[in-house]
Amino acid sequence: MGLARRSLLISAVLHHCRLLNTKLKLLISIKQSIMPNALVAIRKKKSVIILAYIILKSAVLLQNTRLDPTCISLLSIERSLSMIKKDCNMPQFAILGSPPLFSVPLHVNAPNTLNRKGFEQYIAPMFESGWLSNSGPLVQRLEDKLADYLNVKNCVVFCNGTSAMSLVISSLGLKGEVILPSFNFISTAHTLMQHGIKPIFCDIDPSGNICVEECERLISSDTSAIIATHLWGQPCAIEALEKIAKNNNIHLLFDAAHAFSCSYKGRPIGSFGDAEVFSFHATKSFHTFEGGAITTNNNVLADKLRKVKNFGFIGYDKTECVGTNAKMTEVCAAMGLANLDNIKDTLCRSQSNFEAYKVNLLMIPGIDLLQYDNTQSHNFHYIVTNIDEKLTGFSRDQLIKILHAENIIARKYFSPGNHMMEPYKTLSLQKIENFTVTDRLAKSILLLPGGPMVTLMQISEICQLLKKIIANRDQYDLMQSLLN
Ligand SMILES: Cc1ncc(COP(=O)(O)O)c(C=O)c1O
Repeated sequence: MGLARRSLLISAVLHHCRLLNTKLKLLISIKQSIMPNALVAIRKKKSVIILAYIILKSAVLLQNTRLDPTCISLLSIERSLSMIKKDCNMPQFAILGSPPLFSVPLHVNAPNTLNRKGFEQYIAPMFESGWLSNSGPLVQRLEDKLADYLNVKNCVVFCNGTSAMSLVISSLGLKGEVILPSFNFISTAHTLMQHGIKPIFCDIDPSGNICVEECERLISSDTSAIIATHLWGQPCAIEALEKIAKNNNIHLLFDAAHAFSCSYKGRPIGSFGDAEVFSFHATKSFHTFEGGAITTNNNVLADKLRKVKNFGFIGYDKTECVGTNAKMTEVCAAMGLANLDNIKDTLCRSQSNFEAYKVNLLMIPGIDLLQYDNTQSHNFHYIVTNIDEKLTGFSRDQLIKILHAENIIARKYFSPGNHMMEPYKTLSLQKIENFTVTDRLAKSILLLPGGPMVTLMQISEICQLLKKIIANRDQYDLMQSLLN
């Protein structure tokens, strides 16, 4: 900070402090002289208290920058403040210095550790056999069980979803341009770039999935595929995309990272397009610590994938093609088997958690919960809300700051859209497109802790807190300057 700015800041703080001191003294004297009626008077002065807090924060800042905070008696201000805040029955928010609602951080999708016993049973024989990797019995069993569960001919598991995506891109020989939604996890765009393929970003429809009309418009003579994401597990417009792919003789892949246990027209996600790519990352509705899978009805593609994920080997010391190491370990497969055994319980918990949010959030105007199609199977893993700034009085980002202070680690998700992230923003690989819906959702989507690990009590506390924050929005003109 420059000298001029520092001295300006100091004089501003000192000025406010003088004002504040007078006001605090006034409040305290009222309180002492005409109790209990004083409380009414004090309540009217809530904004003074918030102002005091801002000044207190500025003073702390000054102290941290090792400037001489002469004349600022932090302790006395703090003591007076906490006394008045208590008497005024002022809402106690962590962003204003109160203790957080939760003592440990509550993440959006805490890893599912419900079937620890099952996991331990699976790994015991692994230690006996000493077979820890290289397509061992647990990996083979997991692949068979997943293919069965997803009703697809082949399931090939990998060390993570990104490696799986990379290998299906190379195995299908994609090149030139590939169309994908901009409102997406960044991994697919990066993977395309690593293969020398131009990612062509497409806007989404209001559901969050790729906009079919835009997608069709973006097809060029260089397009080799569409990679569409089933966002939050909601199936894309699969038939329309299949038609576009067929008419243009291009490949169609689905990023099904969010869509385990979801269905489209009664058929499980996993057997559509040329192939579907799952992520089994720890935060997903079904996980293997880290991991991923490709599911496909194309046997030739599946055989190729099995080779390329293992250096191209087709036997001891014999390779057939270029390959890499993208194998899943046995311990990860054990986690997958344990989670698959417990899938009904997991889905049931996630659904009742979703229903609890649905009931609780209904009363809060401006926080709209994304609903899932109840005619289809769904994993209910993501608690996706849309924040209406006009109704709540808060921007999505302000709410996130307030919630983080309470140890509720709410998340934005895909903000900004891929087209606004580096290196894509600077590279400008495509002519300027309209990303109206992407930009809007990237600004307003807020995810709350969901999945099977959050408890109904925690959900109730989160929703009550949200209600309290929004009900007290009139006090936030001053608080917002603290947030900005
Ligand atoms: C939509 C989407 N696609 C791809 C991935 C990448 O998967 P992985 O982390 O397993 O590499 C993720 C997240 O992890 C994701 O959310």
